[in-house]
Amino acid sequence: MMIPTKPSIKIAPSILAADFCRLGEQVQQVVSDDVDRIHVDVMDGHFVPNISVGVPVVQSLRKCTSLPIETHLMISHPDQYLEAFAQAGADSLLVHVENNPHLHRTVTQIRVLGCKAGVVLNPATPATAIEPILREVDLVLIMTVNPGFGGQTFIEATLKKIEQVRQAIDAENPNCELEIDGGVTVQTVGPAVAAGARVLVAGSSVFRASDSIPAAIVALHRAAEDALTLT
Ligand code: DX5
Ligand code: ZN
Repeated sequence: MMIPTKPSIKIAPSILAADFCRLGEQVQQVVSDDVDRIHVDVMDGHFVPNISVGVPVVQSLRKCTSLPIETHLMISHPDQYLEAFAQAGADSLLVHVENNPHLHRTVTQIRVLGCKAGVVLNPATPATAIEPILREVDLVLIMTVNPGFGGQTFIEATLKKIEQVRQAIDAENPNCELEIDGGVTVQTVGPAVAAGARVLVAGSSVFRASDSIPAAIVALHRAAEDALTLT
């Protein structure tokens, strides 16, 4: 009997682009073999120039999906809110390196709360910023747009950083995931996967696709797997 293998590329739909009136229904529609988490963008209007959703939305999502909830904290004082998001049901907490002078403390706290820990790099932050923390984290998220808004254009200059972080992960923490976030489309996944990305956050190209949500996920995943085959 053939044992199905887990897909090597994972899609993480970002609910930022969903219709919040029908959030539960839309989250049900992303369920597929290619999707292994839901990405929740938390914005405070301070660390980024936009305000989005917070703890109550994670609580509600927890009741309507069994998929892991990945919480991307684009907020100025993440340490103050880690416990609340963990209690709300988040499975992983991603914090930016740019606003955090005590990153090891933050990552330790995330682990104590029983969550997976990830660190996030803005486009202007060099790959070297993760060196001191790389062995301690489950995931590195490379922003491929400046955080704050959905629907932006993928910044190609981040490809070099994806390659650099992929090399560092392979050398120092091979179990660490390498995820990208922003402007992910069937056109941009190829170069990003070739550079080393394996988890793809996608908002607009999933929830605002001209096709159905399931068809959009299949198309993204296929484009990514095609690129992986060529690497
Ligand atoms: C941007 C967010 C992203 C956003 C991506 O600050 O972190 O997760 O939802 O949206 P798209 O896929 O539309 O670029
Ligand atoms: Zn995000």
